[in-house]
Amino acid sequence: MLTLPDAIGAQLKGQQALTDTTGRSSAQVLLYPNAVLKIRPDDDEARREAAMLPWLETRLPAPRLLAHEVRQGTDYLLMSRLSGSMLCADAFLDDPSRLIDRLAEALTMLWSVDVTGCPSDCSLAPTLQDVERQLRLGLLTDFDASRAEGFATPAALLDWLEGHQPAEQAVLSHGDCCLPNLLADAEGKLGFIDLGNCGMADPYQDIALALRSLRQNLSGVFGGRPRPPVDPQRLFDRLQLAPDWDRLRYYTLLNELL
Ligand SMILES: Nc1ncnc2c1ncn2[C@@H]1O[C@H](COP(=O)(O)OP(=O)(O)OP(=O)(O)O)[C@@H](O)[C@H]1O
Ligand SMILES: [Mg+2]
Repeated sequence: MLTLPDAIGAQLKGQQALTDTTGRSSAQVLLYPNAVLKIRPDDDEARREAAMLPWLETRLPAPRLLAHEVRQGTDYLLMSRLSGSMLCADAFLDDPSRLIDRLAEALTMLWSVDVTGCPSDCSLAPTLQDVERQLRLGLLTDFDASRAEGFATPAALLDWLEGHQPAEQAVLSHGDCCLPNLLADAEGKLGFIDLGNCGMADPYQDIALALRSLRQNLSGVFGGRPRPPVDPQRLFDRLQLAPDWDRLRYYTLLNELL
């Protein structure tokens, strides 16, 4: 039986929850009819999501923060439940043109936000510093060398990333811009969730993750029927952006350590 902090329990009194099984993090995500409760260790990501939701309220279709409490090392975040289906739903994977349209619209919306006063800095300097700290503490345990272009260890990859930092632009970055974290309803209205890595960063942080997620979700690695791949150029065309393949490679590799 789950015992919740009083302020949160009071808001959820008498409501039945479904446990979400999509998320791959250590968070426990409980879906209520109009609210979502995320329970996880009190860490940087949890704190950032709680700090970003109020700031995003007038800037992006993101969940509204309803209550937040940290109790004995556990973070409880209660937010509003957005409507729409995840972009990894079959209806989108079966219709790549619509999927690319929604993805491009989501990225454009993020990049249209004025980042003045944004409470979270996810640019390369603090990000690489944090990766270094995690490496020192032995926390980078899920590094997969087969996805890291021949870098055998996280230390070797980090070393390369530190020495090859591209010039950065500062836009609002979702930070974990994968298909399950973007919602769209039948009219195409978008929703952004899972914002624990949201903050100011280079646009390629999100482009790199979006393209990786597109490739992985279409290939069927997370289950479901494999579908033909989509050429990344289609997303760049839709964004009216000339691809910078070196920057894409840099952020794709960086994401292997995040
Ligand atoms: N505010 C919300 N509104 C609607 N659905 C939500 C909301 N928050 C979470 N969900 C659903 O729960 C799933 C998991 O939530 P979330 O992505 O925040 O958790 P996570 O465990 O951190 O996931 P990840 O593995 O992506 O890090 C989402 O993909 C979505 O289906
Ligand atoms: Mg998620």
